Amino acid sequence: MNVLITGASRGIGRACAERFAAAGNHVAAVARTEEQLSNLRDTFPGLVRMVVADLNESPDLSGEYDVVILNAGYYAPGGLLDRERDVFSESWRLNVVANHHAARQLLPAMIARGSGHLVVIGSTATDDPSPHMTAYAATKKALRGLFDGWTQELAGSGVRTTLIAPGATLTSSWEGETPPPRILAATSVADLVYRTVTEGLTGRLVLKAD
Ligand SMILES: NC(=O)c1ccc[n+]([C@@H]2O[C@H](COP(=O)([O-])OP(=O)(O)OC[C@H]3O[C@@H](n4cnc5c(N)ncnc54)[C@H](OP(=O)(O)O)[C@@H]3O)[C@@H](O)[C@H]2O)c1
Repeated sequence: MNVLITGASRGIGRACAERFAAAGNHVAAVARTEEQLSNLRDTFPGLVRMVVADLNESPDLSGEYDVVILNAGYYAPGGLLDRERDVFSESWRLNVVANHHAARQLLPAMIARGSGHLVVIGSTATDDPSPHMTAYAATKKALRGLFDGWTQELAGSGVRTTLIAPGATLTSSWEGETPPPRILAATSVADLVYRTVTEGLTGRLVLKAD
């Protein structure tokens, strides 16, 4: 399979890239940091193509992919009414607008072919927002709205859609914060993403640590 993954240089996206490449799939790995992407490429010779790009700048992502994983996201703690820092505006472009642009570029080829799988990484923050992350949760709710729209528009096209909503997952997103005691490994999310594609799971899938 040809798989495009946004935010593939570290965290959940990196774990997904490694999971798909380890199974012999071709991965187009999108992120800004060339060094981390080249390390990924060198780990899986001939399978990983680097796409060094800032998703906030509407890069050209068009191509023929069997699977598109819209994973890149920005998290910072903060409330909508916080006077010190506007986390909502900081994260809106990547968490919402960049995904809208990516979908508009990538989905028409899948629709034309009548097959493919769009996987979007959401968050349980859309179900259980907590006061310290209302700004992030609001952007993820908007992404969930986009997902619902894509799903409706793709119905009957042959293109599957899945929204994976992980709970807290140990990645660099938690730098500077105390992660909760029960936290998912990025590889656990990647395993679910892989099963989603290989088993054709659709709808909204929630994954939380016990
Ligand atoms: N970690 C959690 O607890 C958790 C829980 C639920 C949901 N999620 C969701 O899971 C997804 C991945 O989160 P994560 O924790 O793995 O994040 P992460 O460790 O911070 O990694 C973010 C990835 O996105 C890339 N990225 C960031 N800004 C970008 C930009 N402007 N253009 C291109 N790439 C960009 C980063 O690469 P570069 O910096 O190299 O560009 C990196 O590869 C996000 O959608 C997040 O909302 C995370």
